[in-house]
Amino acid sequence: MTQSLLKEKLPRHLAIIMDGNGRWAEKRSLDRVEGHRKGAESVRTIVRAAREIGVPYLTLFAFSSENWNRPRPEVDALMILLKNYLTSELQEMLDREIRLLAVGELSRLPKEVQTTLHETMKKTAHCQGMTLTLALSYGGRDDILQAIRRLMVHCQDQSLRPQEITEDFFSKFLWTANLPDPDLLIRTSGEMRISNFLLWQLAYAEIYFTPTLWPDFSKEEFIRALLSYQNRERRFGLTSEQIRAEGG
Ligand code: FPP
Repeated sequence: MTQSLLKEKLPRHLAIIMDGNGRWAEKRSLDRVEGHRKGAESVRTIVRAAREIGVPYLTLFAFSSENWNRPRPEVDALMILLKNYLTSELQEMLDREIRLLAVGELSRLPKEVQTTLHETMKKTAHCQGMTLTLALSYGGRDDILQAIRRLMVHCQDQSLRPQEITEDFFSKFLWTANLPDPDLLIRTSGEMRISNFLLWQLAYAEIYFTPTLWPDFSKEEFIRALLSYQNRERRFGLTSEQIRAEGG
């Protein structure tokens, strides 16, 4: 019997490291950019599926702070793909009530990408069906450092005492301030690393690794990942007995 997804056991926030575009292309003797192009199609499929299924927050690692070191033509192609994606998907985002957010050092993105990004965020700001966050020029360590820098300025201005800096307080200075912590992280392509993604935020996330390359990641496999998540017991450092007693 096929198991079905339980609405009440879906991750509230799902984060994805979309890896393997380059290898997908190389296996077919294609340019790596073709892999990214196919990867952008998977983005469409998975965003649509997440919205249909009812995942409230979806965050995609679309470009890391380290990705700037890739060959210039590949970086340029990724920026064009991103801009085209934002333009072509705007109507669909509005139709499906998807709000777009972005986290990362956005000022490093080409000006025209920044403009399109900010316009898309503004136009979708009222949407309440799902929050899609693109991590762009994002690094988890950068995120923590920029939070500490801003926090220090805040502390000087407000003369806060060190013990007032709680986890919740600190989280409000991260780029992800308006997002809940991810419950599930999916990483494609067989690599089993976090790769400087959401380092603070992923503290208690379940992780689903799959050998499938991102361009081949289908709606069916996406559902399998969600089923795997809903069969796990999340203990947050407690014992199974404690979790059962709490009715979890
Ligand atoms: C990793 O594959 C993927 C990226 C560095 C970029 C992700 C970009 C997309 C999925 C397409 C564009 C994004 C949007 C939002 C439209 P890789 O190149 O590191 O693959 P490899 O490890 O096989 O070389």
